[in-house]
Amino acid sequence: AACSFRRSIASQLSKVLDLPPENLIKSISAVPVSKKRRVADFQLSIASVREDNSSDCLAPDLHLQAQKLAEGLKCDAVVSEISAGPGTVNFTINRELLAKTVLRQVLKDGSEYGVKSELFSTVPKQKAVIEFSSPNIAKKFHIGHLRSTIVGNFIANLKVALGHEVIRMNYLGDWGMQFGLLGVGFQLFGNKEKLKTSPLQHLFEVYVQINKAAEDENTKKLAKDFFRKLEEHDEQTLSLWKQFRDFSIDEYIRIYKRLGVHFDEYSGESFYQEKSKEVLKMLENKGLLQKTIKGTGIVDLSEKKDLSSFSTVMRSDGTSLYITRDLAAAIDRMNKHNCDTMIYVTDKSQSNHFQQLFQILKLMGYDWVERCQHVSFGLVQGMKTRRGEVIFLEDVLNEVRSRMLENMASTKTTKEIEDPMETAEKVGLAALIIQDFQGLLSSDYQFSWDRALQSRGDTGVFLQYTHARLHSLEQMHGNEQLTDINVACLQEPDAISVLQHLLRYDEVLYRSSQDLQPKHIVSYLLTLSHLAAVAHKTLPVKGSAPELAQARLCLFQAARSVLANGMKLLGITPVTQM
Ligand code: ARG
Repeated sequence: AACSFRRSIASQLSKVLDLPPENLIKSISAVPVSKKRRVADFQLSIASVREDNSSDCLAPDLHLQAQKLAEGLKCDAVVSEISAGPGTVNFTINRELLAKTVLRQVLKDGSEYGVKSELFSTVPKQKAVIEFSSPNIAKKFHIGHLRSTIVGNFIANLKVALGHEVIRMNYLGDWGMQFGLLGVGFQLFGNKEKLKTSPLQHLFEVYVQINKAAEDENTKKLAKDFFRKLEEHDEQTLSLWKQFRDFSIDEYIRIYKRLGVHFDEYSGESFYQEKSKEVLKMLENKGLLQKTIKGTGIVDLSEKKDLSSFSTVMRSDGTSLYITRDLAAAIDRMNKHNCDTMIYVTDKSQSNHFQQLFQILKLMGYDWVERCQHVSFGLVQGMKTRRGEVIFLEDVLNEVRSRMLENMASTKTTKEIEDPMETAEKVGLAALIIQDFQGLLSSDYQFSWDRALQSRGDTGVFLQYTHARLHSLEQMHGNEQLTDINVACLQEPDAISVLQHLLRYDEVLYRSSQDLQPKHIVSYLLTLSHLAAVAHKTLPVKGSAPELAQARLCLFQAARSVLANGMKLLGITPVTQM
């Protein structure tokens, strides 16, 4: 929809400005719908098309230029009104054409609406490896892992929707001294049956127990021995470790499924035990590895080569560290996938780690490090369940589901729902995701169940509610065939507002694809829901003349379609009743 209008405005402008239309496309934007009525549908910002967009950009001058430009343009079949504002030229689209084009495009393109926009036509299709979630076996799945999971999933969804190839990777914390302890712990307190039925919980408990016991020297020694055997690939030891890993992954998969998340690859630190030895060799050969008096291996990262900043890559006993395994993993990932982008999603406490990782790769001569990106996010404070501290992802999922069920039970519609548990889970997850995605990813925020689960206002519950209402409207009146609606019926301000807002979806996708921030899409969808809710009130379907009812249904259907598309990108499964 936006696509053809923008093109047609650009082609008129290109003649007057003597610039190729392609260069103008991104300077023409749909005007956001706000409380005030909009002056126009599209806007060209003068500053963005001026070549000398600096020194003499004085406001009065820009206004004058806008006026001059506006005078040189003519209305046509597409544009019905042109005006000049402070530094902008404003375009109003022919009202019937607006309705017809937007609705046709939305309903025809389905889940590809907005994606097919020309805003993306010059963006090359790429291959991206996105690593996210990456929990540590036998340790807590903390809120940072949850945030990584939903953020990574969003980035992957968005990239896939835009036609890129994506590999979703989970890099498990499945190696290190803690497995020595865990192995000994399992021999003492473990239970094979529990390991099968609830591995994550069981291993965590064993780990807590053995950590208490680890005070004494004998346990410490046993743990060391166990890990040494593991590193030496002793068959029996390795087979126990493999069970820890395999059963844990089975359970992760099951729980991620509740979140609507899947991975293409389960990688992990364990894969890079051997390969990190090679990395150390390479570092040594390139003269990058230095030994301290204590015998640890470090890489000098300072500019003046005075060791004012360095990274430790080898323990004194020659074994690798977290960063060494990450070096090996990055090299392996790039060899294997030869991707255009390699993304790591973790909280910002690891920013320093990734900075060092990329610096070392660069020193090693890997130019592709330019393609690596750490997407970091802020900390979430105060997430607790009624049972207390969050230890497992499942705790969070169960908590949000039960809280949502309680909320739903207090409203009268709930008993008609076929599967209240499932609905509660989907709505609850929407609430968590929207709360998390509302601000910039880099900001910290205070977690609140009550705020997230509010049914009114800017929440995921409200998005779900709007979707369900629009869906039941379709159920009640049937899906409309767009071919023969009378768009003259959609000229009320509330209908136009929805149409204008639908027009802007591609720009929002574009922004999020540029900065990987979900908040643009979130605020777009919240506005869409508010506009649709208002229109739902003022533009009734039931009781209206057939022609009018049909046109309105079509409008609501389009709104629901875009709402559903956007929600899915965010990782939310839209519900059809609640
Ligand atoms: N397992 C790590 C943790 O829980 C996160 C891994 C992040 N990814 C990486 N390639 N280092 O802190």
